[in-house]
Order: sequence, then C-alpha cells, then structure tokens
Amino acid sequence: MVKVNRRQFIILSTASAVTASVASIALAQNSRNPFKSQALSPKLHKSADGLLELELEASSRPISLGNKQATLLGYNGQVPAPRLEAQAGDIVRIRFTNNLSQPTNLHYHGLHVTPIGNADNAFLDIPPKESLTYEFTLPKNHPSGTFWYHPHRHGYVAEQVFGGLAGLFIVRGELDEIPEIQAAKEELLILQDFALDGNGRIQSPNHMDMMMGREGELLTVNGQIKPTFSIASGGLLRLRFLNASPSRFYRLALENHPFYLIATDGGALAEPVELKELLLAPGERVEVLVRGEREPKQYRLLNLPYNRGGMEMMEDEMNMMGGSSHMMGGKSQVNPQILATLTYQGSVSTLPLPKQLIPVETLPEPKTLRRLELSMEEEMTPGMGMSFTFNGKAFDPNRIDAQVRLNTVEDWELVNVDPDRMDHPFHLHVNPFQVITRNGKPEAYRAWKDTVLVRGGETVRIRVPFRDFLGKTVYHCHILDHEDLGMMGVLNIQAPT
Ligand code: C2O
Ligand code: CU
Ligand code: CU
Repeated sequence: MVKVNRRQFIILSTASAVTASVASIALAQNSRNPFKSQALSPKLHKSADGLLELELEASSRPISLGNKQATLLGYNGQVPAPRLEAQAGDIVRIRFTNNLSQPTNLHYHGLHVTPIGNADNAFLDIPPKESLTYEFTLPKNHPSGTFWYHPHRHGYVAEQVFGGLAGLFIVRGELDEIPEIQAAKEELLILQDFALDGNGRIQSPNHMDMMMGREGELLTVNGQIKPTFSIASGGLLRLRFLNASPSRFYRLALENHPFYLIATDGGALAEPVELKELLLAPGERVEVLVRGEREPKQYRLLNLPYNRGGMEMMEDEMNMMGGSSHMMGGKSQVNPQILATLTYQGSVSTLPLPKQLIPVETLPEPKTLRRLELSMEEEMTPGMGMSFTFNGKAFDPNRIDAQVRLNTVEDWELVNVDPDRMDHPFHLHVNPFQVITRNGKPEAYRAWKDTVLVRGGETVRIRVPFRDFLGKTVYHCHILDHEDLGMMGVLNIQAPT
C-alpha cells in the first residue's frame, strides 16, 4: 500500500489542479489520501419530463473499493450502482443487459408498482447475454422516499448482491419540499460489506456462512472506506442510509450527535423522532437529520456490536467441521467499527428542525389475521443441511402461499420460531405496511415499512393494505442467503369480489 502523508497529499493535489487535464484529474483521484477519502456519489440518472430512461448493464469488472483493487459485480461498472431519481407519476424505462455469467433480473425494492409483466416481477429470468426492457409507471400519489434496486433471481440473490449489485432509487416529492429539509445538506450512505481474497476476488462462502448469511470484513460507505462527510456549524445534515449488505446488520451511532428520524423504508414520519442509535437490518432504509450543534471537531459514525442470534447452530457446525473452516466474520464483533467521519466545515445561522413532516394515515382494523412462522428446519436427508421456511415450507414459485384481495387490509402475525433464535428481517414486495405491535406492545410511532426485523422468539404484527396492483409477488427474509435457501413465499393479489 502506498502511504501518502498529509503534506504530500496537499502538494500532489495542488499540482494536479493547475494542469486541468483528464490525466491530472485521474492523478488527483489516485493520490487521494486513503485515510481521508471523500465520499463520491455514484452517477445520477434523473427523470425529465415524466420519464426516467437509461441503459443498465450488469457485469463482472475490476472496480476499486476504497484503496483496494477488486473484481466485483457492477451495474454500468459501478459499485454502488448508478443512483436513479424519479418523481411520482413518472414512467421508468430501463434497458437492461445481463453480462453476468449467471441468470439475473431486477427488483425495485420498496416501490409501489406493478409486480407483473416487465416491471417489478421477481419471477422473471434473464439468462446471460440477454436483454430486457423494464417499464412501469409510478402512481401519481407515490410517496417520496429512499428505495433501491438489486437482483432478485432466486438462488443467486445473495451472491450477486454480495458482489456489489445494488443502487438507490430515490423518489423526490413532498418530503423534499418541506423548507427545513430543503435547507439541509443531503448525503446518501449506501452500506455494503465485502469479503475479498488476496487477488481482490469475492470470497466464496462456506456452508456455515450461508446458514448465517454471508458477511464481509470490508465495510464500505458508497464504495469508500471510512469516507468523510461535513456539516456546517448551525446547519442540518440529512443522511439517507441504505443497508445494501446481504446479511450484515448495522447498529449506527454518531458520536455526540443524536439522529432525528424523519423517514423509514416507505417514506416520511409525521414528525421527527430523536434517537441515540439506529439498527438497520438488511434491506432497511432510514432518513435522519443531524444538527451541527457540537464543538467543531471530528466525530465518528460507528457501527456498534449487535448479536443477531444463531450462535448455537454456529457452534454445532464448528464442532462438526472440526472447527477448521474460515469464518466470514461478523458473528462475534465486540468493538465498534468506524464507518465514516463527520467533520465541521463553515457555519450558518442555526437552522431549526422541522416540527411537522407528513401525516401517516391510520389504517382500518382488518378482519383477516394471517400467521406466518419464520423458521429453519433440518432437511429430511441427513447431510443436506438446513432449509429456511415460512410455515414449514420452502419457496416454490408454483405454489401460492397467501391469497389476498385487492382493496383489503390484513394483519399479518410474523412469528419467529427459529430454534436457533436467529433474527430474520421480513420483507414484502409492492405494498408497504405498518408495524402495529411487537410482542404485543404497540409501536412507539406510526411509520411505513417494507422490511421489518423479527428477532429470535419475537412476534411482530404488521398491517398491510393491498392497493392498486393485481398479481403474484413475494415476501421473504432479507438475509439474502436465507431467501436463496427457501425462506420466501408467494402472495397473489386477486381482483376484489
Ligand atoms: Cu430487497 Cu425481495 O428484496
Ligand atoms: Cu424488495
Ligand atoms: Cu432469515
């Protein structure tokens, strides 16, 4: 590794700034001090005149990850993938080409769009070297929020997302128009972890990694290692977090700064909620405001230790395998990890927090209660390992597990009966929901979610309105190895009677 000290770094970057050629810009990028890399945003594709149109290609490429050279899976050669931005009512048209060596497809996580045809259809299969044009329309009343896209071809999801395939899909709208939020500086933080071998290739998981859900030791934010973000004294920073890791949980805290939660997966809350830390399971997003109200120095954005269960199984497996296998880590993190640094830069007259955001509707109490047991079972044939299930059944694309009617509301009781008390983040496509109770206790505030953590032994009750779209879609565990190993069910939304 090339070590560049602070003074050399300044000299290098000044030198390259004088000669404004493409080559010198490249030099400036490369000579960037690896310990103080600035966050770079992925390429932005924005809708214009009601249309978001782009070409997207998935392939394996050499891509730099912080100061490391790696061979990753990228959309248009980027990790994280290009950022897409649209507004309610827009048409989205994506000409997609699969240049991977495996089948794949695209999923628009959290968007309320049709699950059939060439839209948010998890059942599509795009073989290597083939192309497909995705096209769908965002409803006129689609909430503004932080959504994302990633592959969803069953059996390959964890591997492809772990390779780097994930990007933000932002819907701009009413939340962005609130004056206090408009005044805030916005940063997008895509959290991805990687496990690289000595040649910069993604490590293959072993059996145990897959049971637990694969994790990597290399933590990145927007494809950078420990990037720096800045806030003005008196200013507001709006951070949008996406956990795009296949299995890693992030328990986030910013030294000396509380978070003011303004939005969850499905969009805005009614008012900001002050939090000391945030737990983000795979697939979840949050938007928070941070106030520049501390002494102007550096503060660390930390990932605090969190135990997501499954230890018993891990130990059993270790013993069976003679304790010799490599571990992808994560299972026993004891110290906080540094994800990024916040610095103070400049000052502005003190900006207030917004008092009101956007009302979150109260859903009517439904007549239907459905129970889903989340679990893991030993396969019948010994040595075949585990299968991950809902109500004892592993995924079958040709079986319908939940039949619902359009324009109805249902309560779903998600019961984690996993014998190893492993956490399972439950995710539903197409229709966002509200969490009503957790172990019988009402939730502290009302929010729209599409992914909710169901801890070992927990019962979480969610309320789902089925609106606008008919057809088959899925729900699954967002530990993507669990989804690939069968923890997915089929939901069919039928026409109303
Ligand atoms: Cu983010 Cu069905 O997935
Ligand atoms: Cu999804
Ligand atoms: Cu799971």
